[in-house]
Amino acid sequence: MKIAILPGDGIGPEIVAEAVKVLRALALPLEMETAPVGGAAYEAAGHPLPDATLALAQQADAVLFGAVGDWKYDTLPRPLRPEQAILGLRKQLGLFANFRPALCYEQLTHASSLKPELVAGLDILIIRELTGDIYFGQPRGRRAAPDGPFAGAEEAFDTMRYSRPEIERIARVAFEAARQRNRKVTSVDKANVLETFQLWKDVVTEVHRDYPDVELDHMYVDNAAMQLVKAPKKFDVIVTGNMFGDILSDEAAMLTGSIGMLPSASLNERGQGLYEPSHGSAPDIAGKGVANPLATILSAAMMLRYSLKQPEAADRIEAAVQRVLAQGLRTADIASPGCTVVGTAQMGDAVVRALG
Ligand code: IPM
Ligand code: MG
Repeated sequence: MKIAILPGDGIGPEIVAEAVKVLRALALPLEMETAPVGGAAYEAAGHPLPDATLALAQQADAVLFGAVGDWKYDTLPRPLRPEQAILGLRKQLGLFANFRPALCYEQLTHASSLKPELVAGLDILIIRELTGDIYFGQPRGRRAAPDGPFAGAEEAFDTMRYSRPEIERIARVAFEAARQRNRKVTSVDKANVLETFQLWKDVVTEVHRDYPDVELDHMYVDNAAMQLVKAPKKFDVIVTGNMFGDILSDEAAMLTGSIGMLPSASLNERGQGLYEPSHGSAPDIAGKGVANPLATILSAAMMLRYSLKQPEAADRIEAAVQRVLAQGLRTADIASPGCTVVGTAQMGDAVVRALG
């Protein structure tokens, strides 16, 4: 089993090192090869996604990804910015199905910005379409406005588009996932305004005929944003497009009070996947040894489960993380009175010990 390790920028290298430590401790036949990505790759090779890094990711069974981005690259031309690396990997590997669980850990309930009773036991799964929508739609660019009240003025434009097969496949992923959970899918759209999302709604409704055992409801994205802070536990699986999924998944992650705990998986049709923490590169705390490695360690567990078909190893990691929390160990982001605050490497070591 071959894993491409792409640590990236900011806290990426520190947190990925801990996940690698945990993977090695499992003593599975895993071949791991590291390559630069994001700003680190721009520094080393002049491009955020060098050909060699892309080739390594394509050959691997799975990619373990840290994070990319740093304010210092904000002035680079767009094609050279670190974010292009993750967008390029998603597109080139066809990683259309993005799983973003938002789970509120019992010990961390108090860390949420919502009242504990609203989030205690929260367990929702956002399934975000990841290779279409306004993120990738062509045409896009800048030009002189061809018409309208500001004809001739400089304008910029992007294109929101989804095709029937793209919607069908992500809808199937969502219904299948719901069958493993509480059999409820909420499809989030903006069909009241956008053609793209009227098609989305129509196609999701059609696909639902194959899944009569799963409950489906439709919600406009503005209402979904509101319901997520009002009564988040009403959701089970949320399926939505790339742009809305980007926004709603950050909102949902924050509800749990522990964005430093949340893993994610992005899969293609062959089951090949990219696994990364839901949080970003946090350049403000990079290199200090204080970042929380648990989201990355839990992403490694998802990788074992989904791409490498090693469910027992995945269970072992997840149980070890629970044990470490129960022992009262916390990184600074999830610290609370009475707990022991540890650094990044200490947390990784504790998970290795807890593997048993
Ligand atoms: C995410 C991030 C990315 C996105 C950025 C870094 C391009 O916000 O994975 O949610 O917008 O998809
Ligand atoms: Mg985002």
